[in-house]
Amino acid sequence: MFFEVDGVTKSYGGLVANNNISLKFDEGDIVGLIGPNGAGKSTLFKTVSGYIVPDSGSVSFLGTRLNGLAPHQVCKAGVACTFQDAKSFPRLEMLETILVGAYCRRGAKRAAEERAREVIDFIGLGGKENRLIEKLNMFDRKKVELAAALATEPRLLLLDELFAGCTPTEVVELLELLKKINKDLGVTLFIIEHVLKVIMSACRKVVVLDYGEVLDVGTPDEIVKSKKVVAAYLGEDYDASQYK
Ligand SMILES: Nc1ncnc2c1ncn2[C@@H]1O[C@H](COP(=O)(O)OP(=O)(O)O)[C@@H](O)[C@H]1O
Ligand SMILES: [Mg+2]
Repeated sequence: MFFEVDGVTKSYGGLVANNNISLKFDEGDIVGLIGPNGAGKSTLFKTVSGYIVPDSGSVSFLGTRLNGLAPHQVCKAGVACTFQDAKSFPRLEMLETILVGAYCRRGAKRAAEERAREVIDFIGLGGKENRLIEKLNMFDRKKVELAAALATEPRLLLLDELFAGCTPTEVVELLELLKKINKDLGVTLFIIEHVLKVIMSACRKVVVLDYGEVLDVGTPDEIVKSKKVVAAYLGEDYDASQYK
């Protein structure tokens, strides 16, 4: 199996943020993770990427057990992540920021720089290599985060609310970029997203979390018709056709 979460549980004191979560998917997929605020989505991503050690259960990727590995080892295994509360380095230049990612797999400076420049071209950030991160607008910063993750040459990329705060035009641009990353680079995507247009148009499979548990799994069309999901998350007045 390409990626599998098996019975992952994580509590913070008395609060069970992830309760016996199991899911799996194949290489090449674009999988969405949705659910109300506090459902445990970010906690699951932090467990997968090695920042949190679960109380029980396991995460495996291409037959390797990821839980127990440090974040840089998870990255080396081929899983990269961008975070909801990402704190990029404001005083670094864009190229330097992306280089941090490239060094994951390329030890020599020249090889790392070659990779960073490749990704900059792919993402469409060319010409801004030497700008300080703090001088970039929010949309470019998001693209830099995406580029830094991509520079690690992942086979599985986790994106935690990358689209939050984007304008509708930016959503369309970023969405095309994600589809290109999946199609042209063959990177499997696992994305947490409240912008339902993204889920509806990009994902082939959606996992819904609620109160730390898997509430439902299905195609986007199945999920928007799921009574449980409508009750817990989407709401009765949700109009799926609006997001096509
Ligand atoms: N470091 C932490 N310490 C204590 N509680 C936390 C911590 N991180 C998350 N939580 C709690 O765990 C629950 C799930 O949070 P989170 O995984 O961030 O949900 P989501 O990303 O779905 O909004 C929430 O109730 C949140 O307050
Ligand atoms: Mg979150």
